[in-house]
Amino acid sequence: MPVWNSCPDVTTIAAAIPGPVRAGKQKTTIIQVTNKSTARLRLGLILLAGGLFARGAGADGDAERGKTLAYTCLGCHGIDGYRNAYPSYRVPKLGGQKAAYLTIALQGYSAGMRQHPTMSAQAGSLSDQDIADTATYFASLGGGTVAAGGTSGAALEAAQTCAACHGQNGISLSPSWPTLAGQHEDYLVHALNQYRDGSRKDPVMVPMAATLSDESVLQLAQYFAGLEGLETTEVE
Ligand code: HEC
Ligand code: HEC
Repeated sequence: MPVWNSCPDVTTIAAAIPGPVRAGKQKTTIIQVTNKSTARLRLGLILLAGGLFARGAGADGDAERGKTLAYTCLGCHGIDGYRNAYPSYRVPKLGGQKAAYLTIALQGYSAGMRQHPTMSAQAGSLSDQDIADTATYFASLGGGTVAAGGTSGAALEAAQTCAACHGQNGISLSPSWPTLAGQHEDYLVHALNQYRDGSRKDPVMVPMAATLSDESVLQLAQYFAGLEGLETTEVE
């Protein structure tokens, strides 16, 4: 059992945060729960991300309707190894991704948190209900591995910080945070570099990625890509 998973603090607190709660109130919770400084550091990170519960909270959609809507998306997301041209990296896998995160990501393209002309156009063409339905559909495709919380990877020291949110096995601990397990390695590198150069904005990941060297970016991307999890949704 990995050390990280055997420590109950993170999951306990993640579960204890009921939704959009104000930061000050959450802080009180930490102090009551534990006075261990390492745990507090981890919880601080969780709370920092806690604000994200407010965004894209419920992706309570209709998977059947989402499947019909997703037909266009599969022209890129449904072809294993399909590449974005400039820069060249593989189109991210969506099968088994967390529903609330998918909603946040789609809203992010419309809101300018993320820059990608095609995805902004795609996201902009969807209503809130369309987004919820599509997100519910993709999230439902994870298969057994995602549902079971992933398979245990060979724990990588450098990935311990990430595990607080993205899970020891790369399956994220909250519906609002992306699962990284099984994602394309070159897409993960691309995403981390976007946080590092500021072209992708996120209050949690920008400071997190700023601490990484080029070498750690590659090492972490390779590690998470190698774990079992997300899938390419093939066109039926
Ligand atoms: C022309 C190809 C193309 C089409 C069509 C397309 N996408 Fe994408 N999608 C991409 C690329 C490339 C990215 C990565 C962009 C980036 O770097 O932010 C992406 C990213 C995403 C992400 C973010 C994934 C993550 O892990 O953060 C989501 C969610 C997404 N697409 C959903 C959709 C949905 C839903 C549709 C259909 C309505 C769709 N896409 C249609 C190419 C496409
Ligand atoms: C405090 C929680 C937290 C920690 C710790 C954390 N992340 Fe994240 N991560 C997030 C959230 C939230 C997002 C989604 C941000 C957004 O919407 O752009 C994210 C997004 C990502 C993405 C983009 C995924 C995608 O599908 O586009 C990558 C890659 C990533 N994180 C890698 C890491 C790595 C590597 C570490 C450790 C060095 C790490 N994260 C630590 C919360 C966290």
